[in-house]
Amino acid sequence: MNIKQDFPIFKNNPGLVYLDSTATSLKPRSVIDKAVEYYSQYSANIFRGVYKISEKATQEYEDTRRVVSEFIKAKSENEVVFTRNTTESINLIAYGLGRKIVDGNDEIVTSIMEHHSNFVPWQQLAFENGAALKVIDIDEDGYLLKNINRVVTKRSKILALTYASNVLGTINPIKNIVREAKKINPEIIVVVDAAQAVPHLKVDVQDLGCDFLAFSSHKMLGPTGVGVVWGKEKTLKDMFPFMYGGEMIDEVYVDRTVFKEPPHKFEAGTPSIGEVIAFKEAVSYLNSLGMDKVREHERRLVQFCLQELSNQFGDRIKIFGPTNSEDRGGVVAFEFGRFHPHDVASILDEEGIAVRAGHHCAMPLHTRLGASASVRASFYIYNDESDVEKFIKGLKKVENVLGK
Ligand SMILES: Cc1ncc(COP(=O)(O)O)c(C=O)c1O
Repeated sequence: MNIKQDFPIFKNNPGLVYLDSTATSLKPRSVIDKAVEYYSQYSANIFRGVYKISEKATQEYEDTRRVVSEFIKAKSENEVVFTRNTTESINLIAYGLGRKIVDGNDEIVTSIMEHHSNFVPWQQLAFENGAALKVIDIDEDGYLLKNINRVVTKRSKILALTYASNVLGTINPIKNIVREAKKINPEIIVVVDAAQAVPHLKVDVQDLGCDFLAFSSHKMLGPTGVGVVWGKEKTLKDMFPFMYGGEMIDEVYVDRTVFKEPPHKFEAGTPSIGEVIAFKEAVSYLNSLGMDKVREHERRLVQFCLQELSNQFGDRIKIFGPTNSEDRGGVVAFEFGRFHPHDVASILDEEGIAVRAGHHCAMPLHTRLGASASVRASFYIYNDESDVEKFIKGLKKVENVLGK
């Protein structure tokens, strides 16, 4: 099967080697077509109309909620809240629950490998509520330090961790971590940033045992402007709303407001209707491939890439994160000798190869690694071995241009 054929961007950009899916993924034709279907056939607002095209749009929107809830094995569709992205999802949890339960005697625990969107909201909450922010370190191979009982205590109210790092690639043993943390403090709320996990691995929220999961549609073949919070229904009910306004209320009086039940309590205003509707096509596409196959394809590509980088460049390239492909997602971030990551990325771009250069919204991690920035190549279902080969060839050009 030639997966690239399903992605119109390759036809429109012949020769494109797209190695930046960690930032955002490409979109298959079925997703684009579904968005066009909404905008051209029933582009009405949802929940408000009693007329046919509004009812059709509402049904398509709610269908996506069902498809997404089944994809992550939620107990009910009511546990799936649509936001704009992972960042908004985590802020929703920090404001809606964090503000309510964290006070000056408490601790919030996170890790040094977090993306800023699962770090800054918690740091800010700790500042505002006078709580302590504790940060789990990594070891030299890019694994989270074990023995979380050294960090998590009975005073820890929230544990916010990434499932998979967007720089190191490390896939954290979330299920075990949740179990350990809940042994120490059964009340602890575990928030999982799954922005780099749900697109790439089979995720079962009930099996993980966490309290919240956050991820973005645009990183899993879907449109931009759609994120997800999964949370247990009871917890969602107990939370403050995040945004106030239309569509999240049942009744409004001059002196009080009655909010809707979750998930609608958290979806104030007109959402990204066409994008949510098209999102289900992305999930269907992934389902048709099978998440085990998606994972295995990426694991093989990363293994090949790690081997080639090491064979061709030896210690001129310093790769961050675990060397065992079983423990990492489709991300390879590295320093290339004394070359500035932006120069490396610009020379690769001349060859049609798109990679990321910078701190990838993970400054505390880069500081910990002693690097101000890195080059990052990331893989997804449409990449193949020939992309890795072109990438390696591109890096040889970098050495030729900039000198060894
Ligand atoms: C691990 C991780 N968390 C959170 C985010 C933020 O996602 P978004 O920009 O969709 O809010 C990213 C984006 O790269 C990420 O890689």
